[in-house]
Amino acid sequence: MPKLPTPPLPKTLQPKPKRPGQNGNGNGNGTTTPAQHAAEGAITVVDWIDERTSLSGGVRWLLFRKVPRGINWFYTLGSATMFAFLNQAVTGVFLAMFYRPDVSGGAYESVRYITDDAFLGQLVRAMHKWGASVMIILIFLHMARVFFFGAYKYPRELTWIIGVVLLILTLAMGFTGYLLPFDQQSYWATIVGVNINGTGPFIGPYLSDFLRAGPEFGATTLSRFYAIHMMLIPGLIAALIGAHLYLITKLGISAPPWIKAEEEPELREAQV
Ligand code: HEM
Repeated sequence: MPKLPTPPLPKTLQPKPKRPGQNGNGNGNGTTTPAQHAAEGAITVVDWIDERTSLSGGVRWLLFRKVPRGINWFYTLGSATMFAFLNQAVTGVFLAMFYRPDVSGGAYESVRYITDDAFLGQLVRAMHKWGASVMIILIFLHMARVFFFGAYKYPRELTWIIGVVLLILTLAMGFTGYLLPFDQQSYWATIVGVNINGTGPFIGPYLSDFLRAGPEFGATTLSRFYAIHMMLIPGLIAALIGAHLYLITKLGISAPPWIKAEEEPELREAQV
């Protein structure tokens, strides 16, 4: 793939040329307003960091990209999935501040406390619970967009494969999170789910032993599910989203299938 040149800074981000008589602070009468002071301070801090890290080049590479003609709202489904994940991460942190993975009533009681007593607890829990379903719906819609637009083809096969792993991990988030309220429904449904996993070929029995943290459903099972739900899978998802976005930026977004390369010669490469 030929290397695309870094696009220039958008006009709004380019420094404005000084007008004659201006002393450099922008208002032309020789005084500086507090807002200008604050803006200059912020620019100095950003410049200081950028001089040492050159991060602005990376941000421009990621955000100011050329996209093919004809893209539409269906192309926002990947970003929507990412925001659903961010919602899960932020609300999950607040839930973790109150949740206790204790099988002798503590887990159920902490979830009851979050719902009934904690400040905005019911809202945060609902955002996390509904957000989980929203993320799963969005990820399937995004995958359908990629499939029906043929965006999984060369050179984007690896982006698709990483996506498949992201899909499995997202479903595993739903499965491990379901046990955490530790009520009758979540307890028995998880036993059924773990047993179904156990019937899988070759790795099935090992997988169900791993999930139960032993041959029987016991006190450590809840801790195992909590650790997987709160640390292992979110870490993997965050890292894989990073790899997914890197590939999307490097390869560029694919053009919709109805844009013909013959009619748009400059798209011939972007449409591979
Ligand atoms: C946590 C889950 C996911 C996130 C956050 C995510 C994010 C994104 C974003 C932001 C884009 C660029 C814009 C767009 O096309 O919507 C994208 C593109 C892409 N995604 Fe995902 N994605 C996820 C899951 C998946 C899944 C499950 C698959 C397929 C199995 C997949 C395959 C792809 C492919 C092949 C592209 C390139 C599309 C193109 O160039 O037109 N992604 N993803």
